[in-house]
Amino acid sequence: MNVRIFPSAEAAEAATAALLIQQVQRNTNAVLGLATGGTMSPVYQLLVSAYQQGRVSFADITTFNLDEYSGLAPDHPRSYRSFMRAAFFDQTDIPLNNTHIPIGNTRDPDKEAERYEALIEASGGIDCQLLGIGQNGHIGFNEPGTPFHSRTRVEQLSNDTRAANQRYFPEGKVPEQAITIGIGTILDSREIILLAIGDKKANAVAVMIESPSDISCPASALQQHPNATILLDQAAAAQLQQLFDYEQVDKAN
Ligand code: GLP
Repeated sequence: MNVRIFPSAEAAEAATAALLIQQVQRNTNAVLGLATGGTMSPVYQLLVSAYQQGRVSFADITTFNLDEYSGLAPDHPRSYRSFMRAAFFDQTDIPLNNTHIPIGNTRDPDKEAERYEALIEASGGIDCQLLGIGQNGHIGFNEPGTPFHSRTRVEQLSNDTRAANQRYFPEGKVPEQAITIGIGTILDSREIILLAIGDKKANAVAVMIESPSDISCPASALQQHPNATILLDQAAAAQLQQLFDYEQVDKAN
């Protein structure tokens, strides 16, 4: 794992956006794995700005989002499809047909999960997967205890995760299930970029990086990946002990 600690959230977000932009500039047909969550909003804003300034085009990329809440139609205001349209898709030149997110309100969620996994494979796999991290160490919606070889499937959300995400559902309850790509699916990506911001993530970040890789912390699976970069602000890095092992970055680069 390549761990980079930035002086501020803004610097870590800018570096994350820069890695994604470089990826697309190098390979205009890149297949990107995308994430949702509050952590990602500033990153998408930076991608939109880069597009508006003519620094990058997303016209030929393909995207696969990590997950979607079960039961929510794509146009439901709290769906991850709606989040992605507002934050990124509708503000750039990416054709919506190139953007993939599991369908949350399908009649047969297991079949939908199978279809999604097969579609990722048929697209040649993910070149670069963007990840956030849950306070309990989840990636995508892979909760603690998920086997590292897991593939796309329906996942029961833990009470911890539903409580943490309640702030995005002010008018109702967080769904109890989601369709998520698996940890094995994530590990198949050629490159992984994980961004964590703020003191609420500090414990999960320390376990992910410094505890032995174990299913009790899904994100610790990334220790087994040959090309994973972890970008942190000071607050998210606060519980790390082995500081001499990590890159301290002065500015976004
Ligand atoms: C959700 C998403 C994850 C995300 C996590 C953290 O559970 N499924 O992909 O990493 O939330 O979200 P936030 O950035 O809002 O803390």
